Amino acid sequence: MEKENKIMLPENEAERQLQYIELVKERISALSESAGRPLTACVVTFGCQMNARDSEKLSGILEKVGYILTDSEEADFVIYNTCTVRDNANQRVYGRLGALNHLKKQNPHMKIALCGCMMQETEVIEKIKKSYSFVDLIFGTHNLFKFAELLYAMFENERMVIDIWKDTDKIVENLPVERKYKFKSGINIMFGCNNFCSYCIVPYVRGRERSRQPKEIIHEIDELVKDGVVEVMLLGQNVNSYGKNLEEPITFAELLREVEKIEGLKRIRFMTSHPKDLSDELIQVMKESKKICRHLHLPLQSGSNRILKAMNRRYTREQYLELVQKIKREIPDIAITTDIIVGFPGETLEDVEQTIDMVKQVEYDNAFTFIYSKRTGTPAASMENQVSQEVVKEGFDKLLKIVQDTAREQVKKLQGQVKDALVEEVNEHDSSLLTGRLSNNTIVHFPGEASLIGKIVPVKLLECKGFYYLGEMTDFKVEEESYI
Ligand code: 5AD
Ligand code: SF4
Repeated sequence: MEKENKIMLPENEAERQLQYIELVKERISALSESAGRPLTACVVTFGCQMNARDSEKLSGILEKVGYILTDSEEADFVIYNTCTVRDNANQRVYGRLGALNHLKKQNPHMKIALCGCMMQETEVIEKIKKSYSFVDLIFGTHNLFKFAELLYAMFENERMVIDIWKDTDKIVENLPVERKYKFKSGINIMFGCNNFCSYCIVPYVRGRERSRQPKEIIHEIDELVKDGVVEVMLLGQNVNSYGKNLEEPITFAELLREVEKIEGLKRIRFMTSHPKDLSDELIQVMKESKKICRHLHLPLQSGSNRILKAMNRRYTREQYLELVQKIKREIPDIAITTDIIVGFPGETLEDVEQTIDMVKQVEYDNAFTFIYSKRTGTPAASMENQVSQEVVKEGFDKLLKIVQDTAREQVKKLQGQVKDALVEEVNEHDSSLLTGRLSNNTIVHFPGEASLIGKIVPVKLLECKGFYYLGEMTDFKVEEESYI
């Protein structure tokens, strides 16, 4: 006779998951007792800020069920939160899985899980089933909220548990989160992407755009601020289209106005902005704000109109330039950073020259340059004119040099000024130094006590070291700045 399911689960999803947390907790407690020691768990993050935030959610659940979190992969539970934006991220996961298998053979308690964007690809799942059968649990981007339930299933099953959803319209609120930093936090304001840039796999693995309710976002930030957070990073693939599909539509600029009102919150950042959707209203809100940081990440991808069209970016170089000029005119101290892809199908060295010209004109404070990676299922993958490695390398090296020279020039412009820095950590290489971040995202190292971590202090920028500064704390008040 089938065993009767004694577990009565509530209908509310968050409550259901909390119930699973209790069930897994019993399991971990029993395992820990038989092992005669606490069990440890390690979350490894690949990829972007979205994944970093998801990993904090995974960590929150792991801690609640009784694992001790560790950075070492010699743990009783290891989860890789994967990225598939470019193929090299996938290759790294496969490489590291081999090493994990080795560790698993030495630790009978060890469980291995995989989640994130890479798991939304059918070929990946097939490959793991075939060649990495020691993995215990696999799930994707749409059902991360079920992590506690999936852990329960993993302990109930001898065989690999796989749960991948194709898409979802669900947003589950109020699950536990374990933050990496006490004083700053990412906040998802929306999930997914509707843009379908022709090279990009994100819309396929993260699904359609879904915005969270503004009141849920504000509530979350309120709680974070009560818990010591002074800086938030609002996260979305395309924050500029936030709120368009809500029952009661609201713009991103309006959301920012609400976030600004939160008492105790000192700095607001956001990522990522699509140039085609960046409104005048947003520029105005940024200009008037005392809290929104003077930094805008505005991916260009290419400076050639022909390539931009083939990429389905839906703006021209002229429109992009006009936008940047408008932003700089309104907010002169803003730092602009970008993403650029080299080697998109059909791209010639002349196209790269056009990109280089844009870098020179915009004067980016930093640019992340990527070599085009062919992603199965995207329109660009089936374009015939894929670029040879030699041509890509030549264009890439040339671009990188210009990008670095421009960034150095930009960063140097602050030399001698006093700016407020949020102290983030003790310097990795020299423990007498603290590492802080300016509103415009520039890093500064300066002597100070660890007790200042999480505080905003005025720092004189003494010596530009290329992409960062050496400085010293000062009593001088930052009067000319209208923001922190
Ligand atoms: N190849 C190379 N870079 C890519 N990006 C997205 N898809 C690809 C791809 N197939 C880059 C874009 C994006 C950043 C997050 O990753 O520049 O802005
Ligand atoms: Fe990818 Fe374009 Fe969406 Fe960014 S906006 S996630 S590059 S499809």
